[in-house]
Amino acid sequence: MNSMDVGAPVITLDGPGGAGKGTVSMLLARELGWHLLDSGALYRLVGLAAEHHGVSLDNEAALSVLAEHLDVQFLTGKDDLVQVILEGEDVSHELRTERVGGLASQVAALSDVRRALLSRQKAFCELPGLICDGRDMGTVVFPDAPLKIYLTASADERARRRLEQLRQKGISASLCDLKKDILERDARDMNRSTAPLRPAEDAIELDSTQLSITEVVDLILAEAKSRGLISQASSA
Ligand code: DC
Repeated sequence: MNSMDVGAPVITLDGPGGAGKGTVSMLLARELGWHLLDSGALYRLVGLAAEHHGVSLDNEAALSVLAEHLDVQFLTGKDDLVQVILEGEDVSHELRTERVGGLASQVAALSDVRRALLSRQKAFCELPGLICDGRDMGTVVFPDAPLKIYLTASADERARRRLEQLRQKGISASLCDLKKDILERDARDMNRSTAPLRPAEDAIELDSTQLSITEVVDLILAEAKSRGLISQASSA
């Protein structure tokens, strides 16, 4: 099934970690009343499930079986906050940690794992529309999407934003270490042989370094409106 089969419009947001894709995607989905696919969460879940089951991160065959049979529920509660339940356990908080991000980045480099997650991701495409956030949404998962955004920001700015997020949670970290992690993760995501992070040829590239979240959301809504994906009434 692709984005055209069910007639649901798809807006893809790809780009490196920390560029604001997650927040922008959530706000767009809320504004439009569309479905939301956080594809990074699926890779994080595979990493976490591997840890729970003691599966080594170089055992591609076992990891792809885990990915295919992932027992996960996404429950949307108050304020659109999503609770993630893996094998009956609430892993919403653990999923967002740097440690699980590191596991995700490793399993995401494996082509069989990516293949195993493909149909699960495509199944998110339902009416009235889908906002999806990841690294290969516009290039691999939804190549026919009528609007593709490639959202970036400088590594310094992404590290600064991450530091601020951690500070708000009462966690201290060093800006220098965060920037180093970000650059390492970028390199791994961009240089892998399967579905490397890169803009789709027909993507609009947006640099959010100097933009607020609201400005990014408004730019995307304006573009969606100009392409006839949303009515005048449903955009800001
Ligand atoms: O966006 P995130 O930090 O939750 O993603 C976690 C890891 O998964 C990151 O290293 C990139 C990888 N990923 C991917 O390879 N493809 C996607 N569509 C989404 C995430």
